[in-house]
Amino acid sequence: GSSNSSGRGALVVLEGLDRSGKSSQCARLLSFLQGKGHRAEGWRFPDRGTSVGQMISAYLANESQLDDRTIHLLFSANRWEKRGLMESKLLSGTTLVVDRYSYSGVAFSAAKGLDIEWCKAPEVGLLAPDLVIYLDVQPEKAAERGGYGGERYERIEFQQKVAEHYHSLRDPTWKVVDGSLPMETVEDQLRELATDCIQECNGKPLTNLAW
Ligand code: TMP
Ligand code: MG
Repeated sequence: GSSNSSGRGALVVLEGLDRSGKSSQCARLLSFLQGKGHRAEGWRFPDRGTSVGQMISAYLANESQLDDRTIHLLFSANRWEKRGLMESKLLSGTTLVVDRYSYSGVAFSAAKGLDIEWCKAPEVGLLAPDLVIYLDVQPEKAAERGGYGGERYERIEFQQKVAEHYHSLRDPTWKVVDGSLPMETVEDQLRELATDCIQECNGKPLTNLAW
């Protein structure tokens, strides 16, 4: 039986550099939670399935050029267009395991030199995660992992800057997991963090991101 059938679901966010192992760990965590009887869905940002998401995808593939602030706002808009659905899923008891969220939005744009407060502003009012897990991998290690796929930000010098900005965004509530540990070890840590979070947020109201 589902242990969260009466309460709301949890908003669980995984963050980290490109090739930090987020996507694999999200998939593993999702099937674990579902296997335990939780109602859970896997989400990711950017959500490339919307028309805004297609613009983002073309930009990342270097098929289009966009001003830095314009693409920043598109990434944010891509979260705003999903806010209502996220809220209704969470309120109806579905836990969302989300691969990247507002922290990616701020860390990647700030790494280009945009003002960090300007970057945060459009994220205010989106749903606040119940749990942020940062998968910590050195940029050099991430680059070694089968190389990058060729999208716009997949360069080691840039990822280095992104890592610095993630570092300055971290607050004491973030759970930092060493992403260079064996996959199964990381997986175990994520299972425990997510399970605790789902239990704890039962009864807690959903809140908005305020930074
Ligand atoms: P993905 O590889 O997880 O699909 O993400 C694509 C790239 O987009 C990745 O390099 C991180 C970047 N990104 C941003 O720059 N801003 C954002 O808001 C998000 C969600 C991702
Ligand atoms: Mg990628």
